[in-house]
Amino acid sequence: MHSMTRHVALPLAVVALMALSGCPGSKSQPPPMATGPGATDASSAAGQAGQTDQDEWTIGMSQCNLGEPWRVQMNKDIEQAADEHPELDVIFKDAQNKTEQQQAQVREFIAQGVDLIIISPKEAVPLTKPVGEAMDAGIPVIVLDRKIEGDRYTCFIGGDNVLIGREAGKYMVELLGGKGKVVELRGLETSTPADERHQGFIEGIAGSDIDIIFDPDCEWLEPKAQREMNSALARFDQIDAVYGHNDPSAHGAYQAAKQEGRDRQEAIRFIGIDALPHEGVKYVQEGILDATLQYPTGGAQAIDIALRILGGEDVPKSITLGTRLFTADNVADGGKEILAQDDE
Ligand code: FRU
Repeated sequence: MHSMTRHVALPLAVVALMALSGCPGSKSQPPPMATGPGATDASSAAGQAGQTDQDEWTIGMSQCNLGEPWRVQMNKDIEQAADEHPELDVIFKDAQNKTEQQQAQVREFIAQGVDLIIISPKEAVPLTKPVGEAMDAGIPVIVLDRKIEGDRYTCFIGGDNVLIGREAGKYMVELLGGKGKVVELRGLETSTPADERHQGFIEGIAGSDIDIIFDPDCEWLEPKAQREMNSALARFDQIDAVYGHNDPSAHGAYQAAKQEGRDRQEAIRFIGIDALPHEGVKYVQEGILDATLQYPTGGAQAIDIALRILGGEDVPKSITLGTRLFTADNVADGGKEILAQDDE
């Protein structure tokens, strides 16, 4: 089973008291007037609540897959944050990395009449329409991590992938002394972070003598990255470093190089992205990766924003999360903070 539901009801007495007293925590209060573009949808959601004396909220969460540790962590972060709010009931669905399944899930949530949808979409273009349909139905949508097209959603929350890619590029220049041959293992081409992490990296290595000699689409998947690295090793006599768009890709490449003994022979350097404590950060501690950059899941922030939307508050259209660089030198101290530059 890939979907789970958490449901904690408010004790009846508390609900009754809130309804009677009209205390600020009560979701039956009319919302403040919305002013910004992100607020229109929030006010309509809360407006409905006002009419129905709503004091419990159902959130539908569509996760693009649960095959990758980072996504398991995102769901945990959401669940943990939601657990602190007994008025929230989060229904999790796992699209198993299938776009059609994720489209269908959003439509199921609409048909079910959930109060708010959180989606971490697999691909930008095909998920744009179902999200628009949710908005048309008056259901606010928080888009997490990967983007969709256009602006028909309530709030986007995610890391700054251009910044992360740029930091990876800058660190690559430092690692290689400004010169070398790099294999770039890209994330899924039709998902937005892959392009952004590539663009940022190009900016980060600009002006150096670093060449990208091979840059296959590894779809964010470790086994695919390992296969692509095998073919890179067969084709190129000299590989100085690997830039993996995520830690599983960098780790897959490391495994491939290690099998050939070339990780040590050529002292190939490896940089990844995600920095989960039990994944990328551990790889840095073990000397498998030279660096990883944190890509926060945004799970806790999504629940925070969901509560504000459901309470009728105006929320920003976009929330950019910061990152941390972990290297052998700083991993024991928790990495180095890199602030997001374009918070709105
Ligand atoms: C998980 C993942 C992460 C990556 C993110 C990008 O599916 O591949 O490893 O950072 O998605 O959206």
